[in-house]
Amino acid sequence: MKDLIREKYIPLESLTERSADTVEPDRKLYVETYGCQMNYADTEIVNGIMGKNGYDITENINESAIILLNTCSIRENAEYKVYQRLNELKKYKKKNPALVVGIIGCMAERLKSGLLSKKSVVDLVLGPDEYRKLPSLIDNLIDNGEKGMAVRLSRVETYEDIMPIRKEGIAAWISVMRGCDKFCSYCVVPFTRGRERSRELEGVAKEIQQLWLDGFRDVTLLGQNVNSYKSGDNDFADLLRTCAIAAPEMRIRFTTSHPQDLSLKLIETIAEFENLCNYIHLPVQSGSNRILDLMKREYTVEHYLSIMDSIKKIIPDVSLSTDIITGFCTETEEEHRMTLDLMKEVEYDGAYMFKYSPREKTKAWSMEDDIDEMTKTRRLVEIVELQRDISEKKNLLTVGKNFEIIIEGISKKSDKMLFGRTDGNKTVIIPKNGTPAGSKVSVHVTKANSATLFGEIVHDN
Ligand code: 5AD
Ligand code: SF4
Repeated sequence: MKDLIREKYIPLESLTERSADTVEPDRKLYVETYGCQMNYADTEIVNGIMGKNGYDITENINESAIILLNTCSIRENAEYKVYQRLNELKKYKKKNPALVVGIIGCMAERLKSGLLSKKSVVDLVLGPDEYRKLPSLIDNLIDNGEKGMAVRLSRVETYEDIMPIRKEGIAAWISVMRGCDKFCSYCVVPFTRGRERSRELEGVAKEIQQLWLDGFRDVTLLGQNVNSYKSGDNDFADLLRTCAIAAPEMRIRFTTSHPQDLSLKLIETIAEFENLCNYIHLPVQSGSNRILDLMKREYTVEHYLSIMDSIKKIIPDVSLSTDIITGFCTETEEEHRMTLDLMKEVEYDGAYMFKYSPREKTKAWSMEDDIDEMTKTRRLVEIVELQRDISEKKNLLTVGKNFEIIIEGISKKSDKMLFGRTDGNKTVIIPKNGTPAGSKVSVHVTKANSATLFGEIVHDN
């Protein structure tokens, strides 16, 4: 029966003759997600919208009637991966010409109709604030054979009322604010995700309580710049406090922060509540004031280091991580070494490190991208290797100590092992012993490398 139905609405050109009440369209949706955690959270919102409209979510691309790629534009390479994937999708479309292929997210917002050329496999293009239009654009495509596009950015859309469809698990994320008003000179995000806006405080707190009831034990509050969160008179520290009280057993984290807005009040709130994780991700980007100025980051190295000092004093066992861009326009060897020096001074537990990639529309697009690829690569290798040494040194300091971890599941490397995370976001591997996912256990760390801790459960008797 299903095959017959499929035949009825293939090929696309004949769709105008199809009567909606005679054919039940195949409603299996498959979404592939690229890029940051915000995109993963958005995919859950898309699944929520589509679920409400009668679509089934599948993880098997081969049985899907609709394939959406939720995309990222942050660096050229991120977009390149999606183009490669679109090429591969041609064969799926050849097998099933009725297959609907959509590009959603940041690439859709950036490239708009450029993705919809006649030869393109893409049928739908939707920016991050337009996901509510997915069902109607799909209907229009199926009914009238018209490709669809919706790329307006909103000043108010937060998807507050949409119930995300999440995979079962222990760790969940919630977008608490969207967009970014910072306009760092290298960054395309303000153009692809628009202006800052926040969800209501009570809505977020209730969602965390529900997540606890659904079995989640670790939640990350997301935003391009969470510290700009604003709901009435409440700021991000108020949101954290409310969530910490609303779900006192839930581990609560957040990402990502801008050094300009990370307040003392926020640091003190984290220190005050046991369930607010002692982990702060604070992107520094560069160790040179001249480069920070060119990047329009609005802080100096000295100011950044003073924030780090306060964090370390107020939250003694804090874990710290950062983002670094290497090879930004005109960066000298000396300025590169300043970044290495800053990394040595702060001693981050982890870092995400990138080669500068020019993005159209940004301020830096008009600056000369004058650091050659070989130099960028060499500088990247140097910061990656330094960070590996620092992470290893810091992780080795945990050997012989006990930590509470929440078990998240079976280790990816061995089905005889379980993995969990510490409050400071470090992954710990322990032997499998029947402890169910979601349990909080005390572990004794026995060895460590730059990426992982290894330990054993401490049995109290
Ligand atoms: N090139 C390289 N890295 C970038 N990032 C943002 N824009 C660019 C770019 N054009 C990095 C920053 C940011 C992280 C999310 O991505 O380090 O913090
Ligand atoms: Fe991009 Fe800067 Fe906004 Fe982060 S704060 S999303 S780096 S513009």
